[in-house]
Amino acid sequence: MSFEFIISEPQYQPHIALVRLNRPKELNALNLQLMGELRDALKELDDNNDVRVIIITGNEKAFAAGADIKQMSDKSAIDMLQIDQFSTWDSIRKTRKPIIAAVSGFALGGGCELSMLCDMIVASETAKFGQPEIKIGVMPGAGGTQRLTRAVGKARAMEMVLTGKFISAEEAFQFGLINKIVPVELYLQEAVKLAKEIAEMSPIAVQLAKESVNKVYDSSLQEGLSFERKNFYMLFASEDQKEGMSAFIEKRKPEFKGR
Ligand code: CAA
Repeated sequence: MSFEFIISEPQYQPHIALVRLNRPKELNALNLQLMGELRDALKELDDNNDVRVIIITGNEKAFAAGADIKQMSDKSAIDMLQIDQFSTWDSIRKTRKPIIAAVSGFALGGGCELSMLCDMIVASETAKFGQPEIKIGVMPGAGGTQRLTRAVGKARAMEMVLTGKFISAEEAFQFGLINKIVPVELYLQEAVKLAKEIAEMSPIAVQLAKESVNKVYDSSLQEGLSFERKNFYMLFASEDQKEGMSAFIEKRKPEFKGR
């Protein structure tokens, strides 16, 4: 598949794919085409048996500065409903493999929401997160009011969403929004390091574990616990479970095959 606004490298490292958002002049503003390409690339990587972990990144200056304001500015409410631009995001959310966002510079509006749609965030010390939609007369529309609130709590989310102020990587780390902060020259390297750790695990267990953690977002505790339990039991049908537990008992490193 060839793309205009992203670069997808399925074999960036063994079992690790990299998708780079690539509209640098517009600070990677997320227009409809870019989001469609991202959806298609992620679907392709999700279906590729060789890929175990996916990293999404931008460039040093911007992960993404939000949805493309120029593309949206003259739309009516009916246009927006018909285009339904965020339906692409639902497909991205269904990616079974873990996705790490490697963020440097701006992660604003839809860019912040995209990083939160990923499963983990590794950030450079220059990263800035924010939901500035309020400053242009709208509000977050791709999960900002929901995922941000769950990640950082009501008081901080309310302040960010109602004032549009940005938070630094350091604040994002203290608030529990991101996993790690590293010097700018290391953020991609650090994301790869994290991806490698995950890629060594059983891919089936990783996918079911990701699905179970995400269940927190759309279920009651009781439903989430039943879902988790079912996935746990189901893993005993995999060869990787037998291999993982035997390797532990035999004091050796497991060799997971994804079966
Ligand atoms: N959409 C379209 N174009 C954008 C953009 C966006 N979200 N963000 C930046 N750009 C463009 C700028 O218009 C500019 O283009 P030109 O050179 O053609 O003028 C180029 O990218 C560089 O941007 P700046 O000159 O503004 O760069 P800066 O370093 O001075 O400022 C910034 C950087 C603070 C990020 C500023 O660009 C900015 O405030 N951007 C908008 C942020 C924003 O409001 N995001 C939310 C969008 S709405 C949304 O995301 C809804 C949702 O929930 C999904």
